[in-house]
Amino acid sequence: MDKQLSLTVNALDLFRLEGRRAVVTGGGRGLGEVMATALAQAGADVAVVSRTLDDCRATAEAIAGQTGRRAMAVAADVTRADEVERMASEVEQTLGPVDILINSAGVNVRGAAHELAESDWDLVVNVNLKAPFLCARRFGPRMCERGWGRIINMGSILSVIAMPGRAPYASAKAGVVNLTRVLALEWANSGVTVNAICPGPFATEINRPILNDPAKYKAFVEKLPIGRWGELHEIAGPALFLASDAASFITGSTLFVDGGWTAQ
Ligand SMILES: NC(=O)c1ccc[n+]([C@@H]2O[C@H](COP(=O)([O-])OP(=O)(O)OC[C@H]3O[C@@H](n4cnc5c(N)ncnc54)[C@H](OP(=O)(O)O)[C@@H]3O)[C@@H](O)[C@H]2O)c1
Repeated sequence: MDKQLSLTVNALDLFRLEGRRAVVTGGGRGLGEVMATALAQAGADVAVVSRTLDDCRATAEAIAGQTGRRAMAVAADVTRADEVERMASEVEQTLGPVDILINSAGVNVRGAAHELAESDWDLVVNVNLKAPFLCARRFGPRMCERGWGRIINMGSILSVIAMPGRAPYASAKAGVVNLTRVLALEWANSGVTVNAICPGPFATEINRPILNDPAKYKAFVEKLPIGRWGELHEIAGPALFLASDAASFITGSTLFVDGGWTAQ
């Protein structure tokens, strides 16, 4: 008799996102744009969110044109609960209930701790840590009610290592990992997973000061066992994986996409 295989589903189908609706904060450019595109390529409708409507519109139009999925743009400052509520209502009215949230909005202000202003700390901690909390708090319970959801928070290698000149960013990104774990535990039995992606260096706006300084750029390359910075498309697979049914037994976890930096 033919053997009955234990894998009874098509593994590739687990990555399909048809019928899902996603919100990607910071989706107007950089890693958020790549992740929003990847979700749409897999079949999801997407809402692209940042403070700059033109960026979001350009990205949403390109995604819709290239994937045939619905893609909308919403301008919102996700550090403010009222803006998060307005953004969420707009998305739900246009696309329907949200199944996938990627918190990719991020900002960095570098400098020695004693030289940073209180406003630098507040900005960096609010965008990187408070905003994921506000967005998860808005969308997570509704995902729980429907019994399926995916939340992905963007940490960093600085979630687990330290570097001089990074006090607010490293503190916020460390917080992101434990926020992820707490939310994962709170929603674990409701079909909602919460995970973090911790990237190493990718050439996006947030790294402009390093990209503009050949010595700093080279110093980063020397820290990377893979011997190079990440290429933008290399964030697409990890995001799609965690957003899909392929990662249904993974929650409260942290996926390092860092060329081996934190393996050392
Ligand atoms: N690139 C890397 O090497 C790297 C490494 C580790 C972690 N990360 C993390 O990955 C995420 C994406 O970074 P990225 O490389 O794509 O950076 P990026 O190109 O600078 O994009 C950041 C995005 O966040 C948006 N944003 C900033 N403040 C916001 C706010 N208050 N409300 C709404 N949107 C806001 C920006 O748009 P507006 O300014 O127009 O609002 C932009 O769309 C961030 O969380 C970052 O910390 C990146």
